[in-house]
Amino acid sequence: MDGFLPFSRASFVLDFIAVAMAAVIPVMMISLFQVRKRKNIDLHRRLQIILGVVLGLAILIFELDMRLYGWRQYAEPSPYYDTLVMPALLVHLVFAIPTLLLWIFTIFMALRHRIHTSTGKHRIRHKLFGRLSAYAMLGTTVSGWLFFWLAFMA
Ligand code: HEM
Repeated sequence: MDGFLPFSRASFVLDFIAVAMAAVIPVMMISLFQVRKRKNIDLHRRLQIILGVVLGLAILIFELDMRLYGWRQYAEPSPYYDTLVMPALLVHLVFAIPTLLLWIFTIFMALRHRIHTSTGKHRIRHKLFGRLSAYAMLGTTVSGWLFFWLAFMA
């Protein structure tokens, strides 16, 4: 199916993922602001679980679309196809794969140790892995857009 973003040659699913990534960062920032400044743990927990489920579904749809239709045909007209496109994809994967693992780990451990009621080492560990997960997600988004632009818009 054709995409909907102006100036993009990509498919509907690729366009959709690129736009959806833009929503992740502000929602994540609201969630972190809520837990950090307002001590609103409940909202933080809910927002992070919703983000996790939505992102999981998005990855599933994206992977299916890539296996079925691929992306190279939309990237071939790019002037960077033989130069920067593959390095940009590599940089993106260096962020995206650890991000997926970090998010699964962070959510799983937070729920397993019921850190909304616990104290001590689990909370300290969650802060560390939570921050790592958040920075990794930021890197995934920025590198994803860079790849998207080089491959499908330039
Ligand atoms: C991938 C998902 C998640 C990320 C990226 C994340 C990120 C973070 C970060 C960065 C902090 C520290 C905020 C600060 O600087 O003070 C934090 C705190 C906290 N998070 Fe998460 N979080 C996630 C999921 C969850 C879940 C599922 C729960 C469920 C209970 C949870 C409960 C908490 C609690 C209770 C705190 C407060 C810890 C404290 O201040 O001692 N988080 N989170």
